[in-house]
Formats: sequence, structure tokens, C-alpha cells
Amino acid sequence: MRTVRITLFGAMLCACACSEKPAAPASAAAARPAAAAPVLWGDMKPVVSVKELMRDMIDPASDFIFDSVKTEVTSKGIIETMPRTDADWEKIRVGATTMAEGAYLLKIPRPFAPAGDENNSTGPEPAELSPAQIRAKLEKDPVLWNAKIEALRNVGLQVLDIVKKKDVKQLWDAGDNLDQACETCHLEYWYPGQTEYLKKLDRNLQSLSKPDRSR
Ligand code: HEC
Repeated sequence: MRTVRITLFGAMLCACACSEKPAAPASAAAARPAAAAPVLWGDMKPVVSVKELMRDMIDPASDFIFDSVKTEVTSKGIIETMPRTDADWEKIRVGATTMAEGAYLLKIPRPFAPAGDENNSTGPEPAELSPAQIRAKLEKDPVLWNAKIEALRNVGLQVLDIVKKKDVKQLWDAGDNLDQACETCHLEYWYPGQTEYLKKLDRNLQSLSKPDRSR
């Protein structure tokens, strides 16, 4: 009796599997013959402003990458930080995934700052652009805004790859790349007044390091 039931059950399973498999895609295709896959699986609605997204997500998650390798000189000597355990690498992976995926949240139209927050944008030499000024810049050239987003995402992808290979040496370069991805966007949209200042600083640093190179 038992063998019969099992065989029957098996046969039914097989019948279902065999009859359903080819039928499913065919009927789905018939229902929506020309419909392409949706661009998104649903609507996306922002919760916070860009400023808050930076403060509460991008910035803290980037620290998992920035802080993963460093050399500190303290009164007790030199302290070398680098990922050693699986848990250390997991933290870096959290940072990398948040950069790679979270960057695209900057494509959802959202306020740049919370209502009433004008940034540090008043006075004779304002340090920051106002949210309205940032928006105007973005709307004038959305391709540039998207390029900055892709740059951040690319560093995320790079770090995900580094985590797979557990390559500590490359983590140093990735930290530099991440810093650049953040700063080039900030210099464009948040505090463009600093661009000139930084260029000058950069020229000074280059002239300082020249004698080193010729040695
Ligand atoms: C695509 C552009 C873009 C990228 C890339 C970007 N940011 Fe920002 N970020 C902004 C803008 C714009 C603001 C200013 C928003 C405002 O104050 O209106 C900002 C503001 C901030 C703030 C200030 C938040 C506050 O509370 O005042 C922090 C911190 C910050 N970003 C960190 C980062 C870090 C760290 C990265 C890189 C890992 C990064 N951002 C990458 C555009 C960007």
C-alpha cells in the first residue's frame, strides 16, 4: 500500500512539474506579448533629503571602507589597522554594497536639505550652495550629476571585488578612489567655492614633492 501511494505521489509530482514548466512561460508571453521587462519593479519614493541620506547612510557606510586600512602614529608607537578576520571583511563588504547600491538613491528626485535648512549659504562669502542653487546646477546638467553617482557606484563595485580577493593592498587605492568620488561631487555641487582654494593647495603640494621625485 505504502509503495503504491509513494509511486502515485511521485507520478503526480512529475505530472505537475512536466505540464507546468513549458506552459508557464508560454501563457505569460501570450498574456503580454509585446511587454518588455519593467524598468523598475515598482515606484520609488524618497524618505529623506540628500543631506540626510549623506549623514545617515552614505557617510557612515563609507567609514567601513575608509577606516579599514590605516597607519596611525601614536605615543605608544605605530598602529597598523587592516582587515584580518572574516568579520573585518564583512564590514567592508557592507560599506561596498551600500556605496554600490545606495548611490542610485541619489537618482530619485528628493529635496537637497530638510525644509527650512538653507545650508551655510548666506553672508558675503558663503561656504556652501543653497539647496535651490544645488538643484539648479543639477537640472542644468543632469548627465554630470549622474556621472558623479556612477563614479561612487564604481568604487563600491571595486571594493566588492577587493573583498572577494581579500586584497589589502588594493584597499588603500580604493580608499583614495572613494575619497575622490565623494569630494569631486561635493566640490561641484556642495561647496564649489573651495575648488580654487584646493587647486592652489594642490599646486603647492606638487611643488613641494618635486624635489623628492628627482632624487
Ligand atoms: C553625486 C554627488 C555626491 C556624492 C558622490 C557624494 N555626496 Fe555627499 N553630499 C552631496 C551634496 C549635494 C551634499 C549637500 C546637500 C545639502 O546640504 O544640501 C552632500 C553632503 C554631504 C554631507 C553633509 C551632511 C550634513 O549633515 O551636513 C556629508 C557628511 C557627505 N555628503 C558625505 C559624503 C561621503 C562620505 C561621500 C562618499 C562616500 C559622499 N558624500 C558622496 C552630494 C554627493
